[in-house]
Amino acid sequence: MSSTTGTTTVITNIATLVTNDPSLGDGSPLGLIQDAAVVIDGDRIAWTGESSKAPTTDNRVDAGGRAVLPGFVDSHSHLVFAGDRTQEFNARMSGRPYSAGGIRTTVAATRAATDGELETNLTHYLAEALRQGTTTFETKSGYGLTVADESRALRIAAAHTDEVTYLGAHIVSPDHADDPAAYVALVTGEMLDACAPYARWIDVFCEKGAFDGDQARAILTAGKAKGLHPRIHANQLSYGPGVQLAVELDAASADHCTHLTDADVDALAAGNTVATLLPGAEFSTRAQWPNARRLLDAGVTVALSTDCNPGSSFTSSVPFCIALAVRDMGMTPDEAVWSATAGGAAALRRDDIGRLTPGAYADLLLLDAPSHVHLAYRPGVPLVSGVWRRGTDLTSHRV
Ligand code: NIG
Ligand code: FE
Repeated sequence: MSSTTGTTTVITNIATLVTNDPSLGDGSPLGLIQDAAVVIDGDRIAWTGESSKAPTTDNRVDAGGRAVLPGFVDSHSHLVFAGDRTQEFNARMSGRPYSAGGIRTTVAATRAATDGELETNLTHYLAEALRQGTTTFETKSGYGLTVADESRALRIAAAHTDEVTYLGAHIVSPDHADDPAAYVALVTGEMLDACAPYARWIDVFCEKGAFDGDQARAILTAGKAKGLHPRIHANQLSYGPGVQLAVELDAASADHCTHLTDADVDALAAGNTVATLLPGAEFSTRAQWPNARRLLDAGVTVALSTDCNPGSSFTSSVPFCIALAVRDMGMTPDEAVWSATAGGAAALRRDDIGRLTPGAYADLLLLDAPSHVHLAYRPGVPLVSGVWRRGTDLTSHRV
């Protein structure tokens, strides 16, 4: 096969290939092809199909009868922070409830950190996530809560990903504890102006102890006027207006969705907003699981992400979230894998990632297992044994 952009590589002898293209293979949403091959041309996928029909290429990799999947798309994380909250976690596991107020501990540590410390911390967790198969990640500000601290968090994040989210509205800044309206004015005014150049998205934590529905609407609407697209932390700790507001504002995603009324589910089913479920948060706060089955049965598009942050969900592992979603949230292994790949891409309104079809980015992972089902079947086992990002083999599996 001749290359249009660089060298071509075929990965052959793949026991199960997940393409996420239902027109391929078994016709399921995962578009599974058995005994498959994938051709990479430069940074893109050029061809997928049965191994026996693979074209000749410059390089050849033998997958050894293992599974190949699209790289995970982690569409929700909070990775620009300093310090940790071990004591808070310990207290929770002794019976103390989780509350939004814990965020203040990380705000203090993050403000005190140097740019270099934040950068080192971010790259550490990114490397950790990449080893576990995450090839695209979204990340947020939200632990600065001043104009200078929020904009520096976004500047640091933007050096590592295109999927950057302004979350000045994580909680009311401790500096404005007596005047939340003044903080909303800052978030929608000077802070937004300083942050918008670095961000694609705007987010708000719509919850008791954070921001109510009217404040959330004002914040997301101001962000839209500056060219940022909304996403929202909604219905995590209690029932509330967040999910329906997300649909009303055409947010790309409503994240958490743990406490939903029938009207919330109906709104999601009728709209274009993805429901992003974050089971690491329920695991680490000993909270009730979101009901993925109810959402899927209603026809809602569901994404699965880590919510990696030092407070409510200190895991960077998408495989761990897949296992939880299958065991405790009513998802099948196929659904969970789709949600962690194509679902994450949908939550970021991207069609160039989360699938292995010609033209998509060559972001893929090799599992030390014959199929994707093993991600849930063998929880806690480090099955990701190879990762390609933008066509570059980040491990070494060449034969
Ligand atoms: O998604 N819910 C709000 N934000 C984070 C928690 C952040 C923290 O506790 O530091 C979340 O769970
Ligand atoms: Fe979050």
